[in-house]
Amino acid sequence: MTWHGRPSRGPSASVRLDLREPARRARPAVPHLPHLTASAIATWRARMLNEHGSARVFEGLARQFEGAGFEAHLVEEVRGFADEERRHGVLCGAVVEALGGEALTEAPVGEAYPEHADDATPLESALRNMLSICCLSETVAVALIGAERIEMPAGELRDLLTQIYADEVGHSRFGWRMLDALSQRLDDEIKERLGDYLEVAFAHLEEHELAHLPEGSLPPPEGVVYGLCSGPDARGLFFDTVEQVIVPGLERHGIPARRAWMRRHGGAGLS
Ligand SMILES: [Fe+2]
Ligand SMILES: [Fe+2]
Repeated sequence: MTWHGRPSRGPSASVRLDLREPARRARPAVPHLPHLTASAIATWRARMLNEHGSARVFEGLARQFEGAGFEAHLVEEVRGFADEERRHGVLCGAVVEALGGEALTEAPVGEAYPEHADDATPLESALRNMLSICCLSETVAVALIGAERIEMPAGELRDLLTQIYADEVGHSRFGWRMLDALSQRLDDEIKERLGDYLEVAFAHLEEHELAHLPEGSLPPPEGVVYGLCSGPDARGLFFDTVEQVIVPGLERHGIPARRAWMRRHGGAGLS
């Protein structure tokens, strides 16, 4: 789901993520650009890690949906997203292998999945995470991957990216579809509280995305062949997606998302 190419910093505890075997079976043919190979390997290896890690997020959401009494087919659909994220991990690893690297890295032991059990009903907790995961993160991923895909020349690497892109569209659409189905039944109080929660969710989203889309990342024009994107362009696309797609989309359902986006840095709203 998160789509960027720089390793996260930090956590001391880690486990080995070894996707070499399945990744080798899925290797695409890639163009030969030796001066960009090292940065492309680092980018796709970081993506491998992020994509694989997203599976845990959907497993958590599926558990929450089950606990909140959602229909079994919806729980299964979310579980299926976890499988797709694991598959994305393998596909990103396949690019690493195709470029001559190894689909092998250290995976940080992730944070516990936020259950929000302290102050909300199971339904409201599930909705918070669904908004954060599907309507925010996955929607941003669709925009970033979509832009990368448009610039990438036709070939096996773009076909691989298209597979990932199609799934991310599904993950994002799921959230917006659920919101369409549920928002009529949510009262104003819940929508207000979801708006309050979104202040935190937007702050996290911005921090996370900008950390991985550095201003100084300026690959040469031919970097598009490997999906290496310009940091400033990707940042601009991130802000456009939040302000022109996500905020209006949530507002249409009566969730005060504009207020939340304005207040994401704390305070009453000028940012
Ligand atoms: Fe993904
Ligand atoms: Fe995803």
